[in-house]
Formats: sequence, C-alpha cells, structure tokens
Amino acid sequence: MADSDLYLVYHGLPLPKVAHSEESLKYFQNFQVKDDDVFAVTFPKSGTTWMQEILPPLLNGGDLTSVETIPNWDRAPWLEETRASVVLDKLPSPRAIVSHMQYNLMPSSFFKSKAKVIYVARNPKDVLVSLYHFHKMAKFLEDPGTFEEFSDKFLSGKVMFGKWTDHVKSWRNPELGDRILYITYEEMLQDLREVLGRILKFLGRELSAEALDRVVNHGTFKNMKTNKMSNYSLVPEDIMDSKKSPFLRKGIAGDWKNHFSPELDAKFTAIIQEDMKGCNIRFPWDE
Ligand code: A3P
Repeated sequence: MADSDLYLVYHGLPLPKVAHSEESLKYFQNFQVKDDDVFAVTFPKSGTTWMQEILPPLLNGGDLTSVETIPNWDRAPWLEETRASVVLDKLPSPRAIVSHMQYNLMPSSFFKSKAKVIYVARNPKDVLVSLYHFHKMAKFLEDPGTFEEFSDKFLSGKVMFGKWTDHVKSWRNPELGDRILYITYEEMLQDLREVLGRILKFLGRELSAEALDRVVNHGTFKNMKTNKMSNYSLVPEDIMDSKKSPFLRKGIAGDWKNHFSPELDAKFTAIIQEDMKGCNIRFPWDE
C-alpha cells in the first residue's frame, strides 16, 4: 500500500499529504457546489494545468489578467486540496474548479447541482510517463524506481488517486447526462481552438474571434512554459526540483514510445483492455 509518510488514504485512494489533509477533505465533502461552477476533472498528468490556463479566460470573456497574475492553484483550485478553503469562497462566479476525484466521491452538493464538468482524458501510457518524471522531480513523492517497477504500481492503482481505469470509468456515469463534456489531451494538442469552441458551446458562452485567439495563444505549451503563474517555478526547489524534470516537461503525445519496451507495451495494453472490458468506451489512442 501507499507510503503512510507521503500519502493519506481516502476511500482507498492514496492522496499526497503535501496538498491533502483531513481538514481539506472535510472541506471538500461539505463544499456547496453552485449551479454555475465549472469543473475540469482529470486523472493526474492528463492536462489539469492546461485547463487551469484556458478555463478562467473562457469564463470571463477572454480576460487574461487572472492567468497572468494568479498562480494556477489559486485561479482554478483543486477542490480536494488544502488551498481550496483559502481561495474558493473568495473566487468570483462563475468559478473554475479542478478535481482529480472519482465521480462517486464527489461532495453530495455536486450531485444536486447543475454544475458542468469537462472531463479530460489522456492516453494512459503518456500519463504513466508524465507521472514517472513527476515522481523524480516532486520531493513529496517516493522515488519511482525503474520505469517497469513504476508501471506495475500505476496499473495496480498504487499511485496518487488510484487506478486510471477506475477514474475514467467512474466519470462515464449516465446520471451526468448533458452536464459533462468529454475531451482528450490529444485533441487539445491537435487543435486547441476547435476544442475551446466545443467547450464554449457546452458552457453556452461566446467569445469574439480575437479573444479566442488570445486564449489559444496563451495556452500553447511554449507560452505556458514561460508563464511563471503556470510553470510551477514559484514552488521552492526543495518541493519541486525542475532541474530534475520541469513540470511542463515535453507536452507531446506519444512520448511513451521512448519509454516502453515491446513487452511492457503488450502487458500494459492487455491489462488496461481487461480493466475496461464491457464498458464500451473508445478513445482515439485505441484505434
Ligand atoms: P508531460 O509530462 O508529458 O510533458 P497535469 O497538469 O494534469 O499535471 O498534466 C501535466 C502534463 O500536461 C505534462 O505532460 C505537461 O507538460 C502537459 N501540459 C501542460 N500544459 C500543456 C500545454 N499547453 N500543451 C501541451 N501539454 C501541456
């Protein structure tokens, strides 16, 4: 099981103690979701920071001030993390909120609300690669060991927020109806403007072409890497050592090909397919 010095275990899911506490989870459970809150939900390393960059300006008419002046964790906070209770009650509505929680663990007010959800999925092979490098730079996580060892941990859900497959499946609940929009990291990479157009339509909002261009431009990997409000350079080196691996590392699809042996690829694919059996979810990377 998870190292108890580094993780607290919440409904079986290991959550890093650096950002989660009994108090933060109490706040999470009792949180009053508003109908106009907009959630970006992800398994870690699937594009959360990217959503924190593009969602606030989409909700405020294209104004980039918050993205240029407020760190990502305060401008679109994680509902389950310790910063939430400090910043969320002061955020103007409509609020952009992020979460790594599985659907069934969301606070009870979420289920009664009309709050919308954008679920971002990423090829789990690239999620694994990204998380592996994150473990090397984040001092609050254990050393990942070899890539093969770490892939076993990932597949058995002994990493933060548990199993990727459980997360993805939980958020396919039909109860969500048209409250949820499913997008992928790969689609964002391919054509961010098109995806932002879909998000705007889903949220019932409009932006001028010029404002949309600004948000797209701001959300490129190159520009986010130099935005100190988004590139984690504000985090002290004894917490995240970006010399070991920058938080905004490569920002590409398919880096898994540089990490997986053919044997690991076959094993990983078989285990994910087995876990996803019978749930009728097709992702672009399955084709
Ligand atoms: P890599 O480690 O593969 O580079 P999260 O924010 O959920 O922790 O996800 C982090 C991953 O998203 C990292 O992946 C990071 O580089 C990538 N990412 C963040 N912003 C991005 C952007 N604008 N374009 C492409 N990838 C981005």
